[in-house]
Amino acid sequence: DWTPAHFITDTVARLKEQIGNRKVIMALSGGVDSTVAATLIHKAIGDRLHGIFVDNGVLRKNEFQEVLDTYKQLGLNVKGIDASKLFYKELKGNPEPEAKRKIIGRLFIEVFQEEANKIEGIELLGQGTIYPDVIESVSVHGPSVTIKSHHNVGGLPEKMHLELVEPLRYLFKDEVRKVGRELGIPSNLIDRHPFPGPGLAIRILGEVTEEKVKLLQEADHIYINALKETGLYATVWQAGAILLPVKSVGVMGDERTYEYTVALRAVTSVDGMTADWAHLPYDFLADVSNAIINNVRGINRVVYDISSKPPATIEWE
Ligand code: XMP
Repeated sequence: DWTPAHFITDTVARLKEQIGNRKVIMALSGGVDSTVAATLIHKAIGDRLHGIFVDNGVLRKNEFQEVLDTYKQLGLNVKGIDASKLFYKELKGNPEPEAKRKIIGRLFIEVFQEEANKIEGIELLGQGTIYPDVIESVSVHGPSVTIKSHHNVGGLPEKMHLELVEPLRYLFKDEVRKVGRELGIPSNLIDRHPFPGPGLAIRILGEVTEEKVKLLQEADHIYINALKETGLYATVWQAGAILLPVKSVGVMGDERTYEYTVALRAVTSVDGMTADWAHLPYDFLADVSNAIINNVRGINRVVYDISSKPPATIEWE
């Protein structure tokens, strides 16, 4: 019968056999799947696994540094690349959701390929593909077809003539989490909500600028921390803040303000295909609203999204 410990022993043995004394490169995202896959590969071949973690400028607040630190703790050989300025430059003047996704996907591949070229003799590409990704890529249901296009760097294997290494290919998410816990990966990574590859870029409706990213990072940080502190984080599938391209009038002291609105989103779901809006307590929402408006200059209104999927989607773009 299947146990995480058996899976790890078998998989590490198989990986050693497949890889031999060759080198593997892998894009890490801070997500559960890529972290668990990388840890398994690292167990098999050590520092011949070269991880690349790219800051695309649209990660959550402090995420780049925190995730890099965790990778270091896990002993992974990971290089962090801060490419945020490049991403901001190319996102400028591009308000369309799909255009933003394409830009982010393309730049990611460019940055990744440039790094790969610096390492002598790479022959394999590690990926955190899990079983639902395998199914999704052969069926057609809406945005999920493009979902992993950013992180599994579609097109790269052919272009670079790399052989794939996919240790999680036959696992479901809950099994990946069990393996991750058995490997000693900290729960701040294992129990994370899903986060889209294009990150905050698709939670800033319209054009993305560095200033708007800063604003949204602050609001999102307050919201996510409050969810964690109250124990509500684990009760929802996914949560995040969305920066609307709308300014409205408010009042602060005896001055009128004219600032942005943030929408809070939280959903319950089993697979992201359908979702219900999470019925978070009013008192909790009131506290988060006050904390955001009182602490984030530039936001004077907070609303809560009460739409379910379908017909709404989880993300707003
Ligand atoms: P929607 O908004 O379609 O989202 O209900 C379903 C799930 O997919 C995630 N999502 C994405 N993930 N790249 C990703 O890696 C994307 O372009 C993308 N779009 C949506 C979303 O966060 C949710 O978990």
